[in-house]
Amino acid sequence: MTAKRKALVLGGDSGLVGQSLSGVLEDAGWEVSRLGRRQIDFTQREASRRLEAFVDSLEPELIANAVAYTKVDAAEQNPDLAGLLNRALPATLGRIAKTRPCVLVHYSTDFVFNGRKRVPYSTEDSPDPLSVYGKTKLAGEEALLSLELEKCLIIRTAWLFGPGRGNFILTILDRARKNKTVNVVYDQIGSPTYTPDLAAYTLKLVEAEEYGIFHVVNSGQASWCDLADEAVRLSQIECRVKPVSTAEYSQRARRPPYSALDCTRFYRLTGIKPRPWPQALRDYIYTHLASLMPSGNGG
Ligand SMILES: NC(=O)c1ccc[n+]([C@@H]2O[C@H](COP(=O)([O-])OP(=O)(O)OC[C@H]3O[C@@H](n4cnc5c(N)ncnc54)[C@H](OP(=O)(O)O)[C@@H]3O)[C@@H](O)[C@H]2O)c1
Repeated sequence: MTAKRKALVLGGDSGLVGQSLSGVLEDAGWEVSRLGRRQIDFTQREASRRLEAFVDSLEPELIANAVAYTKVDAAEQNPDLAGLLNRALPATLGRIAKTRPCVLVHYSTDFVFNGRKRVPYSTEDSPDPLSVYGKTKLAGEEALLSLELEKCLIIRTAWLFGPGRGNFILTILDRARKNKTVNVVYDQIGSPTYTPDLAAYTLKLVEAEEYGIFHVVNSGQASWCDLADEAVRLSQIECRVKPVSTAEYSQRARRPPYSALDCTRFYRLTGIKPRPWPQALRDYIYTHLASLMPSGNGG
């Protein structure tokens, strides 16, 4: 019997992407080590050394980084913390991967763009982040690119929902159950993406053995309001989703008004057209949230 291929997934124990990716890799026969805060707090001084020792003891063929400082508004007041997780951690991982025979997968974000376009952003478009979160995520990408790793995938994704952790859909459905109306922003447009799909597409990229920056999201685009409206409708909740403008809905961090991502590079390489987000949303609600529906069975 051949030994299983080993993967190390940072954030695999509790992160939205990390959990889905770990599950997809395990289903594909990989032996996955899920590394989380309980083993190493990546903001601590000793974290780099401990991470390197962990990698040396495991000798993984694949390292995937799904750890990040993802609180977009809080990052404005905690730029140092955001920098440690979004820039310094990938830089450390890059340095570790540079001298070892492994593939490094790192996730980034649509928030590296300024949102002035009106057609989906391709991997050729220049980033220009508006927020601390976006700036630190871009700095993480740049740190990796500057190392010129042979086998590094930087996957920009967006607007995630999926099982295993709180996310926009759960927040909206919770508010919709408790209120007659929920206010949701209509003038920010992006690419809603289901984490099990992102995880499956990530594995396809790893198998394709091409490296560099890829955009990977479900197809179609939506405003937060469209996304909330569809989730409330599918969940059969009596609640009005009221469109409000970004100006009316005060948030600390600036967000791109338009940040849909173009997955052409991913499609050309893998031949896969990501499925439309409404299909993925239906799957999420019927598969993972059915017990919360009025009928209790998702039917
Ligand atoms: N969520 C989105 O909508 C979105 C959109 C675009 C791009 N992305 C990118 O996708 C990737 C994955 O995001 P996600 O939504 O899956 O993130 P997430 O659900 O917020 O998970 C983040 C992970 O990082 C871990 N973590 C945070 N601080 C840590 C620390 N100091 N030490 C150790 N672990 C720590 C968390 O552990 P705890 O559970 O212990 O906190 C968790 O496992 C990130 O690169 C993110 O920038 C996300």
